[in-house]
Amino acid sequence: MGEYTKSLVKADISEELKKKRELYRASGVPVILDESLNALLVAVRMKNPAEILEIGTATGCSGVAMLSACGGRLTTLETDSDAYLSARDNFAAFGVSQRVSQYYGDAGEILASLDKTFDFIFLDGPKAHYLEYFPRLKTMLAKGGVLFADNVLFRGYVDPAGKFPRRFITIVKRMRKFLQTVTDDTDFTSSVIEVGDGILVAVKK
Ligand SMILES: C[S@@+](CC[C@H](N)C(=O)[O-])C[C@H]1O[C@@H](n2cnc3c(N)ncnc32)[C@H](O)[C@@H]1O
Repeated sequence: MGEYTKSLVKADISEELKKKRELYRASGVPVILDESLNALLVAVRMKNPAEILEIGTATGCSGVAMLSACGGRLTTLETDSDAYLSARDNFAAFGVSQRVSQYYGDAGEILASLDKTFDFIFLDGPKAHYLEYFPRLKTMLAKGGVLFADNVLFRGYVDPAGKFPRRFITIVKRMRKFLQTVTDDTDFTSSVIEVGDGILVAVKK
């Protein structure tokens, strides 16, 4: 069933951005999967956010895609200097620089000092830190705001029924705790969806 549903979905982005994503993917740069990207764009179009926060800019492809689906602004955080600089070039090339505030550094540190409220948060940074970021993200999210987190099923390893290589034990345990924490939080309506590498969508009540 997964392969069938995956085959139906085509990323709703420009041909130029598709080509860019393919080049990055081929060279090992992380970009969100097509089917997950479309789920993200559906959520962005439904919410039509004025202020988006993204943790994990990478080369800016997901940021450009989100900005093409709404009229809002993007604040985006990235710790890798090469990725940060590529993203800066890409935001300029796609004509969205004026709508972007880029931060370079560790997301945990930036989040602690960022005094702003958002109505959409795309969590796509270091997977082992989602749990640690969650309390801060919760306070930064406006009422009615959407938290969208990618890779929450992490290659299928997060499902307690499955086995995983020992080296992923920390990330798997923390991701399970993150999912439990958000889905138990009565301030949110949450859904964990088996699309791509697994997404969590939660709306703050
Ligand atoms: C999955 S990639 C993001 C992909 C991007 N959102 C896209 O779809 O085009 C995760 C990014 O998080 C960045 N990252 C890792 N640890 C981080 C940290 N502590 N603070 C900020 N960014 C971090 C990585 O350098 C990487 O570029």
